[in-house]
Amino acid sequence: MGKVIAVDLKSRDHIEIEIEIELESAPRLKVIGCNELLQLVRGYQEKFGKDLSTWPDPTGNRHSEILLREALLKLKGQWQPPYSEAELCHCRSVATQLVDQAIIGGAHTAEAVSRQTSASTACGTCRPHVEELIKFRLR
Ligand code: FES
Repeated sequence: MGKVIAVDLKSRDHIEIEIEIELESAPRLKVIGCNELLQLVRGYQEKFGKDLSTWPDPTGNRHSEILLREALLKLKGQWQPPYSEAELCHCRSVATQLVDQAIIGGAHTAEAVSRQTSASTACGTCRPHVEELIKFRLR
């Protein structure tokens, strides 16, 4: 029986880690995406080898680093986002996933997230959650 960890920047990048639990074999990594992401993963493979469990979490805030960090944290069972409800902004009906995708894609301030998603453009109650997600995603 296998388990698949998948992280995405929609329509752009995809990282998949397949874990064969019964065979206890090393996790298999599949990456589809832009040159930046492919180069990052290739560099990690050359530097740290094929055992993903020994790879350090990337520390930068490029979208490739954010995605690889998420995949590795999920692999280690250390992925704990600060906000888990499906909808983040109730005034504008903005999904948490849309806000998260905007952050991965480069919206690194609450203002940039608001411009891209409309979240936090009415009562402002959700703004702390937007800021929490940005803080959580960036290193
Ligand atoms: S809940 Fe997001 S602006 Fe009101």
